[in-house]
Amino acid sequence: MNETRADVAVIGGTGFYSFLEDPETVRVETPYGDPSAPVSIGTVAGRRVAFLPRHGTAHEYAPHTIPYRANLWALRSLGVRQVLAPCAVGGLRDEVAPGDVVVPDQMVDRTYRRVPSYVEGGAVHLPFGDPYCDRLAGAVTGAADDVRHGGTMVIVEGPRFSTRAESRHYADQGWSLINMTGHPEAALAREMLQCYTPIALVTDMDAGAESGEGVGQAEVFARFKANLERLTGLLTAAIEALPDPEGCSCSTWADDMELTYQVPGL
Ligand code: ADE
Repeated sequence: MNETRADVAVIGGTGFYSFLEDPETVRVETPYGDPSAPVSIGTVAGRRVAFLPRHGTAHEYAPHTIPYRANLWALRSLGVRQVLAPCAVGGLRDEVAPGDVVVPDQMVDRTYRRVPSYVEGGAVHLPFGDPYCDRLAGAVTGAADDVRHGGTMVIVEGPRFSTRAESRHYADQGWSLINMTGHPEAALAREMLQCYTPIALVTDMDAGAESGEGVGQAEVFARFKANLERLTGLLTAAIEALPDPEGCSCSTWADDMELTYQVPGL
């Protein structure tokens, strides 16, 4: 168990380092290998906050190669019980536009070559009807007037973007957002008994929603960079307003169960 502790974590892009006061860096070993990067821990709004760059410090992990299990395990071993997860998403329908910040309330998993669980045996079936923590989502949406709550995010395997036909198909289902990293991150957080909410920044309209070239990487990175200050401001305000994780169903779901995997610190 690490001596350096944190209550809250932000898993996000590399630009978020700057919002931690007096950060220290901790290397964490896990039964699932190394996390994406050493974890930085500092203070935000009086809380101990861990920051983990999802894609690594030099963006060395593509969405399908991110060590998701090591990441959530490492954060839990530091004491983290609440995870805020900013991410870049494409918009599928015209109810969203580039520059919008949305906290989705549903997800659809279209990934197919990731290890999606800590469960390797035994009867442990995660309740996931509502995949995100409603209380955490409330803290985020209450922290700024321009953040919307609701919508379904489909998570695709990547690393390529979708074809127009795929994109139109997703939009036809009524799904509004598309991304490559939201699964299994959210499910693993719940298996680690953590509250978790994505904070989605719409960086582009996906191929099916546009008649132009379709989405490109430069557009996604540039839009995310342009909104970093806004997102760090939102994170700080949300962290200030976070509820007590005690008693939340994100952790109590396992109270009467025998978990067949280790939750560090439990
Ligand atoms: N992340 C940001 N934009 C995306 C898109 N259009 N498709 C999948 N993931 C994304």
